[in-house]
Amino acid sequence: MRKKIVAGNWKMNTLPAEGVELAKGVVAGRGEVCSCVNFIVCPPFTHLSMVAEALKGSDIELGAQNCAAEAKGAYTGEVAASMIAALGCKYVILGHSERRQYYGETSATLNKKMEQAYANNLTPIYCVGENLEEREAGKHFDVVKAQIEEVVYNLTEEQFKNLVIAYEPVWAIGTGKTATADQAQEIHAYIRKVLAEKFGAAAAECPILYGGSCKPANAAEIFAKEDVDGGLIGGAALKAADFLAIGKGFQK
Ligand code: 13P
Repeated sequence: MRKKIVAGNWKMNTLPAEGVELAKGVVAGRGEVCSCVNFIVCPPFTHLSMVAEALKGSDIELGAQNCAAEAKGAYTGEVAASMIAALGCKYVILGHSERRQYYGETSATLNKKMEQAYANNLTPIYCVGENLEEREAGKHFDVVKAQIEEVVYNLTEEQFKNLVIAYEPVWAIGTGKTATADQAQEIHAYIRKVLAEKFGAAAAECPILYGGSCKPANAAEIFAKEDVDGGLIGGAALKAADFLAIGKGFQK
């Protein structure tokens, strides 16, 4: 049985006090959702310790949105994986399309970040996904395959057992345009096949999340698909009620 995961990527939103309120709202309503769903919230770095405090006593886990490629040292403005782990993070989002697109993150950088994550017992949520041009040219399978081969294929079997993949088509992020449930299933099944080519049967255990304009109205249909194990949620994770309602997309 694969883990069911609903993870909130808050991106660069909320002031610290607002983030704490949001986390408290998720904690307060968590009981309405099946305990089979693993909730993760990923606030900005600045909020991590306060949000960790707000999550105390609940089963909601904490993640960061990024980490440095180096362990420590003279890297002004960077935040090390060891630092976020020390604040209580269990997860770190790596390779989000916004990092790839706006901050030039390449597979070479992401390989180093993955190493840092594992060295600090963090589970990476590794994001893959094509842009609109690539989708329209029918290249989406090749794009996600390369993103997996260049990074995930470098993991050891042991590391692979602690990995979450998020498929996020860039054309669906923040656009209100969601992939259809069938489109999500098609590419999730393909991703699992690519993973199986390297890691064999362990690929059947790897959670693959869908991300891109996922909301209460469409989550249940997408999550019902065999190879969709949950969601990585942006905008709708900023309202506790919506985030929880997405979790309800998993039937008890
Ligand atoms: P939206 O849910 O706002 O489309 O964002 C998706 C995303 O990028 C999550 O990482």
